[in-house]
Amino acid sequence: MPKEIITAIDVGTTKICVLVGAVTHDSLGKLALRFLGSGVTKSRGIRRGVVMDVPEVTAAIGEVIEIAEREAGLRITSAYVGIAGSHIATTNSKGISPIDSYHGVTGADMHRALEGAQAVSLPESREMIHVIARSWQVDEQDGIQQPLGMSGHRLEVDAHIVTGTTMAINNLAQCVLAHGIDIDELVLEPLASGEAVLTPEERQMGVIMADIGGGTTDLALFRGNGLWHTEVLDMGGNHLTNDVAMGLRAPFEVAEELKLRYGHLQPQKIAEDEQVWATVFGDRSERTFSRRFISQILEARAEEVCEIIQKRTQASGYGHLVPAGIVLTGGSSQLSGVVELSRRVFGMPVRIGYPSENVPIQGLRRELQLPAYATSVGLLIWGLHEDARAIHRPLSNLREDNAWVDRLRGWLRNLLPG
Ligand SMILES: Nc1ncnc2c1ncn2[C@@H]1O[C@H](COP(=O)(O)OP(=O)(O)OP(=O)(O)O)[C@@H](O)[C@H]1O
Ligand SMILES: [Mg+2]
Repeated sequence: MPKEIITAIDVGTTKICVLVGAVTHDSLGKLALRFLGSGVTKSRGIRRGVVMDVPEVTAAIGEVIEIAEREAGLRITSAYVGIAGSHIATTNSKGISPIDSYHGVTGADMHRALEGAQAVSLPESREMIHVIARSWQVDEQDGIQQPLGMSGHRLEVDAHIVTGTTMAINNLAQCVLAHGIDIDELVLEPLASGEAVLTPEERQMGVIMADIGGGTTDLALFRGNGLWHTEVLDMGGNHLTNDVAMGLRAPFEVAEELKLRYGHLQPQKIAEDEQVWATVFGDRSERTFSRRFISQILEARAEEVCEIIQKRTQASGYGHLVPAGIVLTGGSSQLSGVVELSRRVFGMPVRIGYPSENVPIQGLRRELQLPAYATSVGLLIWGLHEDARAIHRPLSNLREDNAWVDRLRGWLRNLLPG
């Protein structure tokens, strides 16, 4: 069983969000969460998804924790914490184990195979965040999702290994641990977002999830229910705002407001003479801007973002294996015209992923059901399904006696003051 209370902490480039839920069951008896409370604040001390200023981020997290605790009416003692940033790297690795038992593959065999897959040499400056079984092979039979009990002689796992720099992991962990909050697990943000916005059918068929936030774009490619590729790109909505600010010679805040209010990715749909207004600090009056010009600036950068997503997924070698297309989420997926633009660039089905459809959370507040909260909501679901995941991703099954997880946990604990 998961814990009774699950907390998610999403430290984004533009906002920090804490969500708290209580584990319960739905009317069909399936595990679910009852939403208890949340806290959201504007980020500070984060650049491109990475902690740049530990005291600032620690203070900001403290504020949101307090808001969420007050609303939920409890003390938060542990949390699932999202991690992203371009320091994230992934690699695939194989591990092998003999199948000893007369009864077929056992948990111990799977453990051994995964341990073998983990035996990749990492530089001193890197730590493993996840080791996820993508698929299993028993003798000649490959593409197996759950090998438990299968008979054969040789078990092989194809694993996806996610690593991050020790420094980035360390800094983020410290900002949470400083509040006396244990880290249940550091979760790669695209994996969390995937939990919140993808359907089981999409994961089975093959799909790309792109969470376009403020400072990063998080990619994950799923197929056959497994994770095939993940990547965190150093670009997001802030780049669009910066371009608008440069193009209009206006401050970032003004450009952000214009983007949120009037932003559109199809300039041809905007009347040539449509003007919009904003007050520029220092100016006596409002200034007018051409909405079509703003739209042209946004379109150019959004096209580039989509092209990079496409290039990166093609470079992964699996970009052609996604009949379910691409699901966009994150705050920047809310720009008008994003579906039309990305369909044109990708040439495949595109939809916007909302963390509200089919999520196992009762009473989730409406304003949290927006794409910007995909990661936060996904972290809660990740925590809820920790046990269920053991069936699909055997690593979590083996977590408790897993040396590397103990090492990471111990090392995180050592960071606690005193
Ligand atoms: N309605 C909207 N239209 C256009 N852009 C939007 C809208 N709402 C939010 N955004 C943009 O989304 C971005 C923030 O998205 P999100 O909250 O997902 O990012 P984050 O989680 O804080 O950052 P990251 O995940 O990149 O570290 C900002 O650039 C913001 O301008
Ligand atoms: Mg985010």
